[in-house]
Formats: sequence, C-alpha cells, structure tokens
Amino acid sequence: MSRILELKECLALHPYTRQLRPGARANLAEITSVYTHQFINIVKSEMYWGAYMKVLVAYMSRTGNTKKVAEAIYGVIPEPKEIKRVEDVTTLEGYDLTFLGFPILRFGPDGKTKTFLETHVKDKTIALFVTHMAPEGVPELQEWLQKFRDAAVGANILGFFDCQGEIHGLMKTIVRLNRDPHVRESIQTSQGKPDTVRLERARTFANETMNKLKP
Ligand SMILES: Cc1cc2nc3c(=O)[nH]c(=O)nc-3n(C[C@H](O)[C@H](O)[C@H](O)COP(=O)(O)O)c2cc1C
Repeated sequence: MSRILELKECLALHPYTRQLRPGARANLAEITSVYTHQFINIVKSEMYWGAYMKVLVAYMSRTGNTKKVAEAIYGVIPEPKEIKRVEDVTTLEGYDLTFLGFPILRFGPDGKTKTFLETHVKDKTIALFVTHMAPEGVPELQEWLQKFRDAAVGANILGFFDCQGEIHGLMKTIVRLNRDPHVRESIQTSQGKPDTVRLERARTFANETMNKLKP
C-alpha cells in the first residue's frame, strides 16, 4: 500500500509526470490488484513518457528578453532537461524535443539564426519561440515570424510562441528616429516585456507542447 501512495504522490507532484521512483515498475503487479485500471493506465503511460523524453531549451538572446522566456519554459519542463545558449549547442541529437528561442533582428531571423536552423533542425522535433519589439498582432509580424518557420527546413515543428520584448540600448535610439509613429510607439509598448502575463503564456505554451508528446 505504501508503494501506491508513493506513486500517487509522484503523480500529484509532477503533473506530466516524470520520475517514478526506481522499483515502481516492479511493483505494478502488486498495485493492479488494488487499484482501478484507469489509474494503472495513467501510471503506465507516465512511466513510459517520463522514462524516455529528454528536452533541450536553447536560446539566443542579446539583451535578456528571449532568455527570460527560455527560463520560464525550462521551469515547467520535467526532467531530464537542459538549458543552453544556442552558441553552445553542437547538436540536437539525443533530445526528443528542443525548444528554440530567438529575437527578431531586422524583420526576421538574423544570419546566425538561419545558419543554426538550417544546420541542426532537419528531422528533429522542435518548438520555436520568438521575441520582438513590435506588439503582438501587428500585421507585418506574421511575415517576420514566418521566416523562422521557413528557415527550420525539414523540422517537425510542434509549436510556435511569440511575445513582445523590450527594446534596449542603441536600437532604442535608432527606433526613436524612425519616421513611422507606429514603430516609435513600440518603445513605450515594449517596456517591461516580457512581463509576468507573457511569461505565464510561455509556460502554458510549454505545457501544451509537452502534452503533444504524450503517448
Ligand atoms: C539590431 C536589432 C534589430 C531588431 N529588429 C527588430 C524588428 O525588425 N522587429 C521587431 O519587432 N523587433 C526588432 N528588434 C527588437 C528585438 O527583437 C526585441 O527587443 C527582442 O526582444 C530582443 O531579444 P533579446 O533581449 O533576447 O536579445 C531588433 C533589435 C535589435 C537589437
């Protein structure tokens, strides 16, 4: 009976759930006699899922916005997991899913981002997340975001998330000089982003993406 409680505890603690303790598999026969088939099926699928899924969160970030989103995503992912800067990633081999995050730089992915995607993501399961100073939903954004999908040739893209990220430093000065008032407004609207609301959306995105992997 104590083993059943342990299993239940694990499931309650880890909603998706990750780590059943060593020995849990051996005790399945023991608990079948006591518990409902429904519960057993949950345990079996969670064991399978938890035992095999390895997730990487990799991000490129100059001023910290994409890093914040990466850390929010990483926070809700079950073990085994890793978080790295894209610059430190040599391969996506060995990961069942990789969350890849980048900023928009000049209306789409910059050269390094394109090279990374073109080199590493073919035949891999990935989810993309992107930050940008433009408010979510402005029409031109869709075209810029599409360029990230286009660069991820041959990847199985499980999900895509984007949110506004504050414009910093020299770029802020450059944007201030822009003739288009809508572009200049982004300085104000992007301030403090990604905020708690957006980071929570990123967590939801991560959870939903992880759910797509479940057997
Ligand atoms: C050189 C440069 C170009 C940028 N170009 C765009 C752009 O075309 N569209 C946009 O919405 N944001 C643009 N941004 C803003 C960044 O995408 C945004 O601030 C992002 O959140 C930065 O992420 P990071 O802090 O992770 O580097 C640009 C920023 C820089 C520095």
